[in-house]
Amino acid sequence: MAKFLVTGGAGFIGSHFCDAALSRGHQVLAYDNLETGNKIFLTDALKNSKFQLLEGDIRELEQLSKAAQEFRPDWVIHFAANADVRQGLDRPRRDLDYNTTGTWNVAEAARRSGCSRILFSSTGSVYGEPKIFPTPETCPFPEQTSLYGASKCAGEAILSAYSHGYGMNNTVFRFVSILGPRYSHGHVFDFTHRLRQDPTQLKILGNGKQLKSYLHVFDLMNGLWKVIDAEPKGFQVFNIGHDDALTVDRSVSYIVDELKISPKYNYTGGERGWIGDSPRIQLDCTKLKTLGWKAERSLEQGVRDTVKYLKENSFLFEGVPV
Ligand SMILES: NC(=O)c1ccc[n+]([C@@H]2O[C@H](COP(=O)([O-])OP(=O)(O)OC[C@H]3O[C@@H](n4cnc5c(N)ncnc54)[C@H](O)[C@@H]3O)[C@@H](O)[C@H]2O)c1
Repeated sequence: MAKFLVTGGAGFIGSHFCDAALSRGHQVLAYDNLETGNKIFLTDALKNSKFQLLEGDIRELEQLSKAAQEFRPDWVIHFAANADVRQGLDRPRRDLDYNTTGTWNVAEAARRSGCSRILFSSTGSVYGEPKIFPTPETCPFPEQTSLYGASKCAGEAILSAYSHGYGMNNTVFRFVSILGPRYSHGHVFDFTHRLRQDPTQLKILGNGKQLKSYLHVFDLMNGLWKVIDAEPKGFQVFNIGHDDALTVDRSVSYIVDELKISPKYNYTGGERGWIGDSPRIQLDCTKLKTLGWKAERSLEQGVRDTVKYLKENSFLFEGVPV
């Protein structure tokens, strides 16, 4: 049995990680300020005696360090973040505080507690608008096109420096967009939310041709555990995403089919949905596949499962502006 401190453990992805760790018999401390997370996602975990939820903020170094020093984790799994790519320009300090300084706090708290393994949820957005597809981990870094990507890139650099400086074995995962149960932000959420308000029409940002890879959260979990079980040494980076990709139009066709509606589409036009949107994301996951991982669920299944989940859990839309 190992001990996992999971920042952002009440969020979409973090709560699945907590469930998976508990199902493997591990002990879990979820550390979350519940800003975008939801205790409902932890309904099963909270019944498990090996699980504890601590309400705390990664921006508070002393509070986080105290939690880590008392728990003494074998692994810190770092999901807590501002995970919304699009709000960066409206609140320009937010990504820096949550994703960069927050990640430094996590690295420092782990080091102080004697923990030598951090797994970090970075993003394919760090590639900006690359020239190579599928994009390998070794792709030369282009200009950053979003504050979110820039803040995650800086977070990766901090974990790399902690690996080299303090002999830690830190692992960065660059995720594509993740789909599936408990999904609570992203394009499938936004489209479903708006179509529930007005099933007759849908505004689509960009030209609908943006081509992106996604991944079902259960396939993501399998990938994370392949790496945890392999106990990688030193600083490592792994892409994780489906080989297949969907245009926004294709994704919308699955959403409206699940909702059984036929809206009229209004495109805002242009290649990008918003400033900082990457029109194409497809990652080369050869490195992770060498550990025996592969995605088992199609992207169509990912989108459809997500819409079904949102239909059955419409409380997630409450209070979210359309
Ligand atoms: N969902 C995706 O498609 C996707 C893609 C790429 C990378 N990621 C990364 O994966 C991680 C998890 O994303 P998610 O989709 O589960 O997002 P989420 O918003 O559902 O989860 C983030 C969790 O962190 C918590 N949190 C936020 N700020 C915090 C703070 N300052 N202190 C403590 N807790 C805080 C939130 O309450 C929430 O529970 C994030 O780091 C995100 O950037 C997600």
